[in-house]
Amino acid sequence: MHGVWGSRWTFILAATGSAVGLGNIWKFPYITGENGGGAFVLMYLACILLAGVPVMMAEVLLGRRGRMSPIHTMQHMTEEQGAPKAFAGLGWMGAVAGFFILSFYSVIAGWTLAYVVKMAMGDFSGAGAEVASAAFSDLLGSPWALLGWHTLFMAMTGFVIARGVKHGLEDSVRLMMPMLFVMLLVLLGYALTTPGFAQGFDFMFSFDTSKLNSSSIVVALGHSFFTLSLGMGAMMAYGAYMPGKASLTKTVMTVAVLDTLVALVAGLIIFPIVFSNGMEPAAGPGLMFQTLPIAFGALPAGSLIGTVFFLLVVVAAWSSAISIAEPAVAWCVEKGISRGKATFAVCALAWLLGIGTVLSFNVMGDVKFLRGTFFDNLDFLTSNLMMPLGGVAIALFVGWFMKRKDVADEVRIKNKALFNVWMFVLRFISPLAILYIFVKGLG
Ligand code: PFF
Repeated sequence: MHGVWGSRWTFILAATGSAVGLGNIWKFPYITGENGGGAFVLMYLACILLAGVPVMMAEVLLGRRGRMSPIHTMQHMTEEQGAPKAFAGLGWMGAVAGFFILSFYSVIAGWTLAYVVKMAMGDFSGAGAEVASAAFSDLLGSPWALLGWHTLFMAMTGFVIARGVKHGLEDSVRLMMPMLFVMLLVLLGYALTTPGFAQGFDFMFSFDTSKLNSSSIVVALGHSFFTLSLGMGAMMAYGAYMPGKASLTKTVMTVAVLDTLVALVAGLIIFPIVFSNGMEPAAGPGLMFQTLPIAFGALPAGSLIGTVFFLLVVVAAWSSAISIAEPAVAWCVEKGISRGKATFAVCALAWLLGIGTVLSFNVMGDVKFLRGTFFDNLDFLTSNLMMPLGGVAIALFVGWFMKRKDVADEVRIKNKALFNVWMFVLRFISPLAILYIFVKGLG
């Protein structure tokens, strides 16, 4: 029903397109800053390895075997494997999480769009920390501007989804992803020349465990799921379009390594700028927008490089946003609704909800409940609750309720020892670690 990717490489590109996004360049640096640096980074890496990678293999495997939208795949797999009925609800939770995530993701991607224009107009040439911070506050202070950019980004997302994942996505990702990597390396080159590089490096990689507390461990875990697009069906939906022969292990490892590299490089660009300019690492969601313009302001042809850079971040966000909506859209299509209509409905709902995030940074900035603003709550609910919960369910399903032979048929790991290690991690380590962190973090 839904077309298959051209090759294993297309899956890698699309899955990397989904994984690499605002989570790596915007969110990872700012939460690292808020959570004290090195020890947090170490926790995040451990979560990627012990929970992210094994769960991602399981999630893609389920999608490839089910070959349908996550909702139908989970219903089908639950029946096929005779697993408890509750697992069939996993697809639903994912689709709901997708709405929530898309709603705020589009708003932040809108900030990035606004920065493309600011860069192109040369707003930041020679800018220091003050100019960069003021420009950011100005943007956040105008709800109408934020709403406009949010609307534009959502429309762009809908446009690609409506064309179909294959045609809509393959072309954009194939070209833009490599360009983004190159740009990041250019910026890393700049960061290396700043006086704060050593301090920035130290901040990220010196593991001061005294800075770790249970809430930052939950954030690290939640982020490892967010950044790999796990636990809500995006990878399952993409797995459904994966050719049958492709190796799961290699594919998933490639995506995870690329994703992690992008995040670490983004941090290594941003923190040296923070320390070189006497800025605050715990500045919050504005960190990327307040630091990078300083780098562009200092570079020769900075306005041009900055424009291209923010454009590439937009593309990275775009290829992620598409995958966030895909589980819900694919389900509608299976229900007989046209792809165009389904896309419109999903994007319109997420757009509406996004208004809450737009207002969280201005008019409703002081309206705080539970975890903070409306945006803080959506972010916490999705990254720190729904996605890890989805991850536990996926690990338990494949580890405990799927017939071992079916699992082995799907992953086709030739090395028996390696297969056993993966199964052991999936059955015991990932679910226990996630549950432990959960209970500790919420208690
Ligand atoms: N992984 C994306 C990022 O790091 O920006 C965000 C994301 C994409 C989350 C797809 C969830 C998802 F289903």
